[in-house]
Amino acid sequence: MIPIKNPEAIRRMREACAVAATVLARMKEQVRPGITTYDLDQIGRDLIASLGARSACHGYQLHSRRYPAHTCLSVNEEVVHGIGSLKRILRDGDIISLDVVVEYNGFIGDNALTVPVGAIAPRTAELLKVTEEALHVGIKQAVIGNRIGDISHAVQTFVEARGFSIVREMVGHGVGRTMHEEPQIPNFGRRNTGEKIRPDMTLAIEPMVNLGGYAVRTLSDGWTVVTTDGSPSAHFEHTVLTTDSGPEILTIPRAS
Ligand code: MF3
Ligand code: CO
Repeated sequence: MIPIKNPEAIRRMREACAVAATVLARMKEQVRPGITTYDLDQIGRDLIASLGARSACHGYQLHSRRYPAHTCLSVNEEVVHGIGSLKRILRDGDIISLDVVVEYNGFIGDNALTVPVGAIAPRTAELLKVTEEALHVGIKQAVIGNRIGDISHAVQTFVEARGFSIVREMVGHGVGRTMHEEPQIPNFGRRNTGEKIRPDMTLAIEPMVNLGGYAVRTLSDGWTVVTTDGSPSAHFEHTVLTTDSGPEILTIPRAS
């Protein structure tokens, strides 16, 4: 069963998501050639702390390993869960995915985006555009009466029609008091399958799209997921609230 949030939980989800979005927007402004991914992660850590939140990634446990950084920073062929490093200096022509997950007042906000570093190759620019559009194509399907598979199918169809491929191993997810709740939201699948979408679900929709093949593998650090063929990969994510009047994106920076 997909959890349904009560009004208090929704109120807190709004706040957590606004914090996550604010951190992401400010980190994005700091991306430039010459900065290390370690420095970007430290900027994220400081922003999260200054907003009274906690990184939900830091210490996150998977297969007995704890995630060591505060944000996930994935460069070029890195798909997700890249760990900031002093050795990784961003260069003109790179792309970088920033994934920020915070806990605030007991609830989680989760969002991600991919940005160019300086001037990038045209097909890579297309990859970023298509992945962001795919996120919104998926969000549009998060309407009452649809099923989770309608999101999956719409994203897959959109992406594959443009010659890119969908990562299979990682999927979107429900989000609430914990980072990963039911349901899983694959970015590939069949229409009219999976659980029905009802009002007051909070869903993290997050297409991960590769320029080349869909295969990925994990590096020996136990976290960094890369494309097997070394092709660039992009990732965009929002946390969305389902309502009777359509999906509402919660991960929007608070006006300030
Ligand atoms: N947005 C990612 C997810 O939903 C964040 C993972 S945090 C990490 O899985 F701790 F695994 F790095
Ligand atoms: Co997520």
